Order: sequence, then C-alpha cells, then structure tokens
Amino acid sequence: MATLASGHTAKALEGDELAKLLENFPSYKNGLMRLSPGGWVFSNGYCNLADKLYNFEFREGDVLVMTWPKCGTTWTQEIVWTMRNNPDLNNPEADVAIMDRVPFMEADMFISSDDPSEDEMPVSEMFKKLCPNGNPRDGVSFQIAQATPDPRTLKTHLPFSLFAPSLLEKVKVVYVARNPKDTVLSYLHHHKLFRAQSFVGSLETFVDYFLEDDLIYGPYWLHLKEVWQRRDHPNLHFVFYEDLKADIKGELKKLDAFLGTRLSEDQIANVAKHTSFEEMKSRNNLFINKDMFKNEVVVDQEVLKKDGGFFRQGEGIGKSEA
Ligand code: A3P
Repeated sequence: MATLASGHTAKALEGDELAKLLENFPSYKNGLMRLSPGGWVFSNGYCNLADKLYNFEFREGDVLVMTWPKCGTTWTQEIVWTMRNNPDLNNPEADVAIMDRVPFMEADMFISSDDPSEDEMPVSEMFKKLCPNGNPRDGVSFQIAQATPDPRTLKTHLPFSLFAPSLLEKVKVVYVARNPKDTVLSYLHHHKLFRAQSFVGSLETFVDYFLEDDLIYGPYWLHLKEVWQRRDHPNLHFVFYEDLKADIKGELKKLDAFLGTRLSEDQIANVAKHTSFEEMKSRNNLFINKDMFKNEVVVDQEVLKKDGGFFRQGEGIGKSEA
C-alpha cells in the first residue's frame, strides 16, 4: 500500500479481485491498482507517475483536454490544437502524430514491463527533438509533456482529484463527456483492438465490469461528478460529444471564446472541416509511428478488419436517448 501526494492510497489488486479481471483481461497480468478514496483503477505503472503528475508544473496558457476514455478525446485534442496552432491549415506540424503534438500525460503507465521492447515503447522523433538528453525509461510521454513548447495542449483521462487543487487556477480545462452507452461500446472496441488492454469476453460481461467500476480508469460517474461540481469555474469548458456532433460550428465558436483564439468565420470552417470524422480518419497521424496500426503486437488485425480501427463509427445514440 502506498500513500500518494494526492492523499489517496494505492493498493495492488490481488486475490479474487484480480482473478476476476484476469478471466477476461489477459493483458492485465502485469498488475493493476486501485486508489482509495474513489476506486480509480490503473495499471501498476501509475504508481511511479502519480506524484509526478500531481505536482506537474503547468504553465500559464496551458490547455488540458480531460475526458473519461472514449468520450471524444482525440477529436477534441485535434480541435483545440488546430484552433490554437493551425486555423489557416498551413502549419506543417499538423502532420506530426496527434499524441506527440498533444501529449497524453499518464500514457507511460501502460508500459508496465521492466524491459519494454521497441514496439511497446517506441521513441518518437518528437521525443528525440524535445528531450535530447532524456531517458525513455523515465517516461516518453511524460517528458514530451514537460518539454512541449507554448502554446501547450495536453491530454489526460485522470480526474480532477488526482491533480493539485490549484489546477483550474493555472490551466484552462476542456472537458468532454459522452453518454455512457456509446462510451462503453467504444471502450469495448478499444479493448478488443489494442493488445495492451485486450479483452476476451462478451459485451454483457464488459458492461458488468463498467457498472462495477472495474475497468481501467474506474468510475465513470465519479469522474463526471468531479467535473460537474466545477462546471461554473471560468477556466473550465464542459462540452458533450453529442453537442459537438450536432452543431460543430456553434460549439467551436463557444470554444473560441473560451480559449481566446479569436478565429474568423473562415477559420472556424477550416477547423470544422479539418477535424471532421472523415478527414481525421483519412489522415493516419494518430500514432507516432504511422505503421503502428499494421503491427500485430499493438493492434489485433482481425478486429481491425472486422469492426474497424480507432476511428470506428464516430456516431452514437445521442444525448436524449441515453
Ligand atoms: P466510436 O468508437 O464510437 O466510433 P477517444 O478519442 O476519447 O478515445 O474517443 C474515441 C471515439 O471518438 C471513437 O468513437 C471515435 O470514432 C470517435 N471520434 C474520433 N474522432 C472523431 C471525430 N472527428 N468526430 C466524431 N467522432 C470521433
């Protein structure tokens, strides 16, 4: 049991609790932990990162995209980055992988092996450029997040309570929520697609894990509750995935006011087009390595062929149906 800077205690899952997960998530054999209070579930690798993330030195002008997994994170990363860095669609940096331009702060927790292979821990050109003296074993994503120059946009799936309470005093947070039915379906697909979180059970079983807060990242509703309590803070922008789908230009205008980007109508139209599902799906610049999706170690090729890739459907049942 470890006590974290956030005040939570972290305890490795063991016994029946771990066995119940390993039945359906063979890839979790490297270990999981649960935090208390809250019940947040993470890969064991989170333990080494937790205090570094809690004490992360945010800078004035940072924008943090915060979501529970599968709620439209990547879409919002691309929207915010494009609004801030590429509203005229002429920035060559736009070809760089999204996860390098908008680093995933806690991504290194998924590298749980002590001696990761190149496939498990690829070192991007961005890492070499921004962290020439960095040791990849100290966290590739974390160090990129630290070294990304202004204007910096970052991504996290962690809830507010795992960051310092001053977060919203320093940083603008864009929080995206999505109805739980679509979220869980999308998360199931993610768990079938990516080997690092492989799942071998049925939809019903997966939903049970979700309802019991046993999936990685844990309680969906508590995540939402923590942001809802802060929704009137001027440095927080709360948006639903479904509203982005229904009226992208209207939502981009609200974001423009929040971010202070002062985009023209033409620039808003550029961002809407550039971040549409079809255009993002066609670009293949999600990962640091463009061939990563073809890599059997990373992605289950059968699932990819049958059910689609990361950009699966980009649809949903909508807010009112949820
Ligand atoms: P589906 O699996 O329902 O298709 P995240 O980025 O948080 O992991 O969320 C992934 C979900 O967002 C996936 O949902 C993906 O297809 C969808 N998505 C990604 N880019 C999108 C876009 N430009 N427009 C709409 N949905 C998008």
